[in-house]
Amino acid sequence: MSQQPLVTLQNVGKTFGPVTVIKDVTVSVYAGKVQVLLGENGAGKSTLIKMMAGVYQPDAGRIVVDGKTVTLPTTRAAEELGIATIHQELNLVPTMSIAENVMLGRMPTKHGMVDRSALRNRARAALSLIGLDIDVDTLVGELGIARQQLVEIAKALSINARILILDEPTAALTRHETESLFAVMADLRSRGVGMLFISHHLDEIAEVGDTVTVLRDGEFIAEVPASTPEDELVKLMVGRSIEDQYPRSTGAAAQPAGTQPAEILAVEHLSSNGQFSDISFTVRAGEVLGIAGLVGAGRTELIRAIAGADHYDSGTVTVRGRALPKGNIQAAIKAGIGHVPEDRKGQGLVTGASVNDNLGYATLASTARLGLADFAGQRSRAQAVATKLRIRMHTIDQAVGALSGGNQQKAVFGRWIIAASTVLLLDEPTRGVDVGAKVEIYELMNAITAAGGAIVMVSSELPEILGMSDRILVMRDGKLAGELTAAEATQDAVMTLAARDVDEKN
Ligand SMILES: Nc1ncnc2c1ncn2[C@@H]1O[C@H](COP(=O)(O)OP(=O)(O)OP(=O)(O)O)[C@@H](O)[C@H]1O
Ligand SMILES: [Mg+2]
Repeated sequence: MSQQPLVTLQNVGKTFGPVTVIKDVTVSVYAGKVQVLLGENGAGKSTLIKMMAGVYQPDAGRIVVDGKTVTLPTTRAAEELGIATIHQELNLVPTMSIAENVMLGRMPTKHGMVDRSALRNRARAALSLIGLDIDVDTLVGELGIARQQLVEIAKALSINARILILDEPTAALTRHETESLFAVMADLRSRGVGMLFISHHLDEIAEVGDTVTVLRDGEFIAEVPASTPEDELVKLMVGRSIEDQYPRSTGAAAQPAGTQPAEILAVEHLSSNGQFSDISFTVRAGEVLGIAGLVGAGRTELIRAIAGADHYDSGTVTVRGRALPKGNIQAAIKAGIGHVPEDRKGQGLVTGASVNDNLGYATLASTARLGLADFAGQRSRAQAVATKLRIRMHTIDQAVGALSGGNQQKAVFGRWIIAASTVLLLDEPTRGVDVGAKVEIYELMNAITAAGGAIVMVSSELPEILGMSDRILVMRDGKLAGELTAAEATQDAVMTLAARDVDEKN
């Protein structure tokens, strides 16, 4: 390309202690182009972009902006050169309002005081860019993860950058919101903004990208056009091809003729004011029940109530015939429930604690003998599960927060494998997980149901819901809008149920 790049990371390298994470990688961002970074969980994508964002300093190579070598000692320095970043792990302050978060570090002032009305107006303008119509005085901590992601995007957009880095911005978004983001990206591109885009949703690459840089184990593998077929991209990324992306084997354990598998989970008339109402369903041994719906339909709230993470107003949750007390996580764990929450950072993991401790969290108390925690046993179980899930880490004593995003997700899952949970409540279980590791998680779901377990899976990824569920419930506005068998379910059928009201209003 004859055009000069806006920014180039040239032959950069990065090590953390003894571990080399990035080795001799070169990538450029051009005006009006979207450069895609592709690689498995832990391949080094986030580490690479953090060198462009002023978060990390490269140990080797150099950073070139507009043809000049620069150093980016802080995120502020990167922003001053017009580089804005939407990070994979959200950097919002939950106790502050949306407006304060969007304008953090750039508060408008008047007579030496924060100008509250200017603050609100600018935040509102930023949110309207991505079509988010929400009270900017709302505390960020009250928002679900999808809306938090949109706030993070609005924050980066409000900087008016020339270079925008987007690290898995769509992981927490549904198709509808993803489309709004892509419309914004198309507009930015036409105005000459250069972008660096990361996503594990391969279908998005051809849709928004121009060129793809593939990384494997921190090394440059190839640069190919974004129109490259998905199976070829997968091959470049993981070094082999993946035949079946959704390997659902119907899990029902062998049944004597004419009998039904045992009912494992029964939810009856469950209601929680303002969140969901009168929800009833059952899940049998061997079954994966998918729950689809739009963001805000009440899916996460429902799952949290069943898992004992939140209280509810009325109704009952029964596991193998025994009613569970409300809002009691320990009782739920005892009954065999494992809960993979949608927000791994806020609710799933203790990021400062080790991988070992995080994996053992649900089990250490119950495996104690004579009142003594069984640390050695726990450690070997954790090691075995980490190997099985191929959690990419340096050692098991490393802080879970230092794992790549997808590997953190596997750690949340691993906890319940160790706990031998037989009723798994999965909320967006493969968010941020690469194609290869997704298949590994699906195989685990198959193994759990084949052994007589039951799974409830909330997912915004329709192909995943359709590919892995035996039966699908669709929620809309806190209520059950319908139920589809695997045979009846299509993207259209699910979306019609999920969005009927929206269509009627339009
Ligand atoms: N601060 C750190 N200290 C030690 N190791 C780190 C640190 N940050 C990242 N790593 C390691 O660097 C490797 C690459 O991580 P990175 O987050 O860049 O991966 P990624 O490609 O973004 O993966 P994902 O798709 O899961 O987000 C991982 O093995 C991770 O454990
Ligand atoms: Mg990452």
